[in-house]
Amino acid sequence: MKKKIILDVDPGYDDAFAILLAGKHKSIDLQGITVVAGNQSLERTLKNTLDICSNFNIDTKIAAGMSGPLLREKIISKNNNCDLGIRRDLTKEDIIKIENIHGVNHIINTLHNSKEKMTIVGTGPLTNIAMAVKLYPEITKKIEKLVIMGGSIGRGNITPKAEFNIFADPESAHILFNSEIDIVMIGLHVTEKIIITEEVFKKIKSIDTNLSRKLYNMMIYDRENSGIENRKLHDPATIAYLIHKDIFQMEKMNMEIILEKGNRYGQTKVYKEIDKDQKQINVAMDINVEEFWNILYKLLRLEN
Ligand code: BDR
Ligand code: CA
Repeated sequence: MKKKIILDVDPGYDDAFAILLAGKHKSIDLQGITVVAGNQSLERTLKNTLDICSNFNIDTKIAAGMSGPLLREKIISKNNNCDLGIRRDLTKEDIIKIENIHGVNHIINTLHNSKEKMTIVGTGPLTNIAMAVKLYPEITKKIEKLVIMGGSIGRGNITPKAEFNIFADPESAHILFNSEIDIVMIGLHVTEKIIITEEVFKKIKSIDTNLSRKLYNMMIYDRENSGIENRKLHDPATIAYLIHKDIFQMEKMNMEIILEKGNRYGQTKVYKEIDKDQKQINVAMDINVEEFWNILYKLLRLEN
């Protein structure tokens, strides 16, 4: 049976791959995309989401959510733009495609109206999801799982201790990590193993379907314009987890989001001894990278 999900994103080059997998894979039933500020301003992440969906022919509801974090001052990423090469402002046609409802309400309504439990996937700062839970706590009963790309049990990437998505809104992460929700955390220590090497470029080029060509063009455009070689592909690991969780090694851990302002702000701190009476987070410890790529390649081959 297809897994019903809501995807919350802040594109972001790597978010685009998560949207592609979620929108196209046969085992995922994408019930909508909510957009949050993160890698870029909300206006920009929203436009990127619309561009990604139109580029890959993904037809789903798209709703704009929070334009900044709950409490802290807003930060954006310097080099994760996801410029698909379509440089333009939002058009009237774009605006028609945006749901006439706030992203946070879209999450609440979708869960509320669903008979079954649904999975939420977060690949940006967790502001929309935490707001939804704060506004309407009963929805946690409708959430099967929350799968996030965020945090790290090793070093960080935005500060020595913190990963970008958690650092961009630690208070939202804290709300969710202390809620009833079953959380799967796929952190930096795992996602930074997924690297877009020259071999990946070649492989995607060689698949040569309509879909692979669109993705390849996006990748080439990014490499030429950002000048970044060997990008790390963090976000699609979340969707890969839902498709084939066996490619991950998981461990349960007690975890704390550090909220004290200072050099550990936004760190996902792990406790060595497990206290079974405290909430445990399902933490991905490793990934079979080859199998990850196979999921993507297989999808690209199917689409012509
Ligand atoms: C995360 O931060 C963002 O820049 C990426 O899109 C990813 O979600 C990696 O730390
Ligand atoms: Ca992201």
